[in-house]
Amino acid sequence: MQVATHLQHIHPSYIREILAAATAEGIISLAGGLPATDRFPLSLMAESIAELPRHAELFQYGETAGYRPLLDHLENLYQVASSHRMMVCSGSQQGLDLIARTFLNPGDGVAMEAPSYPGALQVFGMARAAIHPVQQHRDGPDLDALESLFASGQVKLFYAVPDFHNPTGVCWTLEVRQKVASLCDRYGVALIEDAPYRELRFAGKELPLVSTFCPERALVLRSFSKIATPGIRLGMLSGPRDWLPALIRVKQASDLHSSIPMQALILDLITHPGFPGHIRQLCDLYSERYQALATALSEYLGEGFDAEPVQGGMFLWLKLPVLDSAAVARAALTKRVAVVPSTAFYPKGVSAEPALRLNFSHEAPDTLREAVRRLARVLI
Ligand SMILES: Cc1ncc(COP(=O)(O)O)c(C=O)c1O
Repeated sequence: MQVATHLQHIHPSYIREILAAATAEGIISLAGGLPATDRFPLSLMAESIAELPRHAELFQYGETAGYRPLLDHLENLYQVASSHRMMVCSGSQQGLDLIARTFLNPGDGVAMEAPSYPGALQVFGMARAAIHPVQQHRDGPDLDALESLFASGQVKLFYAVPDFHNPTGVCWTLEVRQKVASLCDRYGVALIEDAPYRELRFAGKELPLVSTFCPERALVLRSFSKIATPGIRLGMLSGPRDWLPALIRVKQASDLHSSIPMQALILDLITHPGFPGHIRQLCDLYSERYQALATALSEYLGEGFDAEPVQGGMFLWLKLPVLDSAAVARAALTKRVAVVPSTAFYPKGVSAEPALRLNFSHEAPDTLREAVRRLARVLI
């Protein structure tokens, strides 16, 4: 059967396409966005998992907006703006999809940082939005370009990942946060603040969410994938009180509600006295792995290969002096290391800065070092 026309507007995810090759025997993969599997907080969840059979009520149909005790706890924990409401979604990816399906008509303009998260490119592609890339600098998006784009009246939404961006690891400064919020306010553009990496800070000081400066026009996505486990598929979406009912209706049509037993488990996990320590250990681990990767890059590659330091998250963006990053990624596979070329992070037809995204959260320091040694055989 022929696929629907809106599917012609998404390109398949490079990462999913090379997954088979990247997971083959002997390949070191820095390609995925995988958290450290051996640090999933399963021991903190063990008691709650064992208790689940005693709570048949959790296995009944539930509210679309989410498991009420979890929502109550999170609204308080995240200090959600008083004008906002929160809902649970099946991963922040679903939240993104719900936003697109609720608020976008074909042809509506969406501004995105370039490069940007491929999952968002897919969602906005499927919604047949007109994507407007805005170049990203080391402290956030190009503000002049953003302002002229907003002033042109072509944009309804601005999608951004201000904390430890995927793929570049960039974290916006306070000034950029305030400026972007004021531009959204001035030009009536809604901000989608996607913050799955926010808690993974291992250096520098935490900064306020951009949405705290423009709560009336911001939707915030948060995720349990990076701080608990991605397989549990839970995230949160918050936004202005009168925007939520439409989003909840679309979710209802989509999947009725996210898994209630998993929401109960997450609530037990995040209220467990050991949970803050788990996040601290995760940040320490990622800091150590990041240092190992950055050190290996400077030892093996030297001059001409630029990687901006990051203060958190899971990715490092290695700029290349050569132009064809896709060819480099293909050649790297023949040397048994998988990486993602920058082309995977730009909309079709937009020229990509030559670079590679390297993940540092999943592999141990020695393996990261070996991956860079193999990559160097392709690059120099
Ligand atoms: C920027 C960004 N947003 C959203 C997601 C999706 O996360 P989730 O597992 O919560 O659906 C990811 C996953 O890697 C991501 O990098």
